[in-house]
Amino acid sequence: MTKHTQTSSFGVGARIGHNSSKFYNSKLYENLDIKKEKKQNDNEIMPQHLNNIFCHSSEKMPELPDNSVHLMVTSPPYNVNKDYDENLSLSEYLSLLEDVLKETYRVLVSGGRACINIANIGRKPYIPLTMYVNQIMLELGFLMRGEIIWDKSASSGVSLAWGSFKSASNPVLRDTHEYILVFSKGDFKREKKQNKQDSISKENFMEWSKSIWRFSAVSAKKIGHPAPFPLELPKRLIEFYSFENDVILDPFMGSGTSALAALQLKRNFVGYEINKDYIKLANYRINETKNTLF
Ligand SMILES: C[S@@+](CC[C@H](N)C(=O)[O-])C[C@H]1O[C@@H](n2cnc3c(N)ncnc32)[C@H](O)[C@@H]1O
Repeated sequence: MTKHTQTSSFGVGARIGHNSSKFYNSKLYENLDIKKEKKQNDNEIMPQHLNNIFCHSSEKMPELPDNSVHLMVTSPPYNVNKDYDENLSLSEYLSLLEDVLKETYRVLVSGGRACINIANIGRKPYIPLTMYVNQIMLELGFLMRGEIIWDKSASSGVSLAWGSFKSASNPVLRDTHEYILVFSKGDFKREKKQNKQDSISKENFMEWSKSIWRFSAVSAKKIGHPAPFPLELPKRLIEFYSFENDVILDPFMGSGTSALAALQLKRNFVGYEINKDYIKLANYRINETKNTLF
C-alpha cells in the first residue's frame, strides 16, 4: 500500500499522494477573501476575429465574448518614457492596467490563466510595480498561482549604474531579473477536452515548473521595437499553461512575439496594440512564421 505524506512541521521529502488539508484548513487561509465563481460555459470567438491584432486600446475588447480566451500572456507598457509610453502618473498608469486586467478577467474562461511579465522600476525610491499589480489582480478576483523570476543576467548590456562603487555610501542594486506573475480565473484546474492536447515534453515540464527561469533578453534594435520580450518567454508560458488549439491573448502585443509563440505551438492568438507601426511589424513577423510552418 502506498504511504501518503502529510504536511509536517519539518517538511516532507518526496510528496506521495500528499494530504495538505491540515495546511489549507489552518487559520492562515480562514479569512482569505477568495472569490468563488460559478463555472461558466466557454464561448467561441468569431472565426474572422481569431489570429488577429486589433488596433485600439485593450481597455475594451469588444471583439471577444465573455469566457472565450484560455491564456493571457503579456508585458505591459512601463510608462518609463519609452517611445510608445504616455507620461502617466502612477495612479493613472495603474488605472489603465486595472481596466485592461478587468477586461481580461471577463474574457478568460473559467480556469483560464493570466501571466504578466513586469519589472520593478526606478531607484530613488524603487517602485515595486509587482506589488501594485498583484494587489489589483487579487481585488479583481484572480487567484494567484505563483511568481516566476526571470533571471536575465546572461544578457549583454547589464547596467553599470551601481551607485557608490565599492562604498557603502550609496550602493545601488542592478536588477538582473524580471517577474512573471501568474493567476487563474475561478478555478486552478482546467478540464482537458478531446481536441485539446498537451504538447510539453517531460524534460521541459520538470525544468519549467521550477520558479526561476534563465534565458537572455532580446535586442530591441534587432526586433525593431523598444521593449520586446524574447520568444522563449511566451513559448514557455504557453506550453506550460495551455493546451493545443487554445486561444492566447496578448492585450499589449507590441512586435507580436506572443502571436509567433502561439502559432509555433499550434495555438490561436488574439491581440491589441495601439501603435499602427508595431502592428505592421507584428504582422510581418507573423507572416514570416506562417511561411516557415505551412
Ligand atoms: C512592453 S510592450 C510589449 C512588447 C511585446 N511583448 C513584444 O514582444 O514586442 C507594450 C506595448 O503595449 C502597447 N500599448 C500601450 N498602451 C496600450 C493600450 N492601451 N492598448 C493596447 N496596447 C497598448 C505599446 O504600444 C507597446 O507596443
